[in-house]
Amino acid sequence: MALITKKLRGTEDVLPAESYRWQFLEEIMREQARVYGFAEIRTPVFENTQLFQRGVGETTDVVQKEMYTFDTKGGESVTLRPEGTAGAARALLEHGVYNDGLPVKASYFVSCYRYEKPQAGRLREFHQFGLEVYGTSKPVADAELICAAASIFDRLGIDDLSLEINSIGCPECRAKYHAALKEYFAEHSNELCDTCKGRLERNPMRILDCKSKICSGIAKDAPVILDYLCDECEEHFKGVKACLDSAGMKYTVNPRIVRGLDYYTKTVFEFVSGSIGSQSTVCGGGRYDGLIEELGGQPLPSLGFALGMERLLLLLDSKGIEIPKPETCALYVAALGENAEAKAFSLVKDLRDASLHAQYDIVGRGLKAQMKYANKIGAQYSLVIGDNEIEENKANLKNMTTGEQVEISLGENFVSQFTAIYLDNKTSSPIF
Ligand code: HAM
Repeated sequence: MALITKKLRGTEDVLPAESYRWQFLEEIMREQARVYGFAEIRTPVFENTQLFQRGVGETTDVVQKEMYTFDTKGGESVTLRPEGTAGAARALLEHGVYNDGLPVKASYFVSCYRYEKPQAGRLREFHQFGLEVYGTSKPVADAELICAAASIFDRLGIDDLSLEINSIGCPECRAKYHAALKEYFAEHSNELCDTCKGRLERNPMRILDCKSKICSGIAKDAPVILDYLCDECEEHFKGVKACLDSAGMKYTVNPRIVRGLDYYTKTVFEFVSGSIGSQSTVCGGGRYDGLIEELGGQPLPSLGFALGMERLLLLLDSKGIEIPKPETCALYVAALGENAEAKAFSLVKDLRDASLHAQYDIVGRGLKAQMKYANKIGAQYSLVIGDNEIEENKANLKNMTTGEQVEISLGENFVSQFTAIYLDNKTSSPIF
């Protein structure tokens, strides 16, 4: 029968044989979030469209071209989240979490949706891990956040990501910068793409971020924001660099980083790889001191980052960094005959109740095929039970790697005997 449909362009399935790779990364991220003092927030996949229009910004590519927006049957305009920051801010604001003491530190895993042209490292449904800190304007918070991101890459053994930082100032210095950009781009206005022509008046900084070749070519020689920072932003940026220096973090100042979302102020940063092609930014973030107010709250200086899970996996592959495989089945209990099948069922249940990974035949295979299957799934030990074994209440436990066999009782202390043997020979990865 032909499949009635296949996965949509720009989406990926994670199959059972690969999911351990995701789980391993997620486990490390959860662990690093914990040690840096973050607690997880979970928010809906879809939100009121206005949230992203206001939060992410009307003049961004994301809002202008990439959102999955639709009207519900009730006539509301809703949007599948293109990123995690706006939803997290909305939730914390809505529930008054900020009133319980600052800073608030939230972590998240989210699926995101952007109608982009798919290519390696660029999907329409992708996944982010993110950290957000609310309620601090101190430069040390920026440095701490960057260190938290770096700690994940360190734990994964990735050493070729370069950290690029910049400051894009506050609304005050931005006004002067916008004027300079307008003047520069006005001279090229005929060459700009239609979207950027519109941006020229409303938000010329977004032209710096345009994916069109012509616009990005023109943008190369545009004025840079660092030359327009006000004293306070300059001081803040100096502070961030000093903290990074004292933490021994290597970075380059890249005055061309503006990020693709409108909410950023002051520090912005990206971790960029030279090994995964054109979609080279694995992680991006920065400060967004105006977002909470934009969403209707009191001013609350905040900052965060998100890293792309798919891009991180691509990077690990390109570096040949292997993710440890999860432990395979500890014991496969093969059975011959009806009584033995019932015994296998109860032995395996006892093992599982003791948190051991055990399996037996649930599809009706013959003994030979059961053993073949035990091999295929990488069972570490096997046990064959027939009428004799049941009668004598003991069986031979076989170490599938060495072939060594020891007799084991099938009675009450079966689980404790097996556990002792198993733990004695166990080699394990740090996570699984
Ligand atoms: P962003 O730079 O748009 O920032 O996305 C963050 C990361 O998500 C990127 O560095 C990339 O790894 C991944 N990513 C983005 N788009 C795609 C895509 N189409 N396919 C695959 N991966 C993608 C944000 O989303 C901000 N919310 C980050 C942030 C959090 N800023 C402050 N807090």
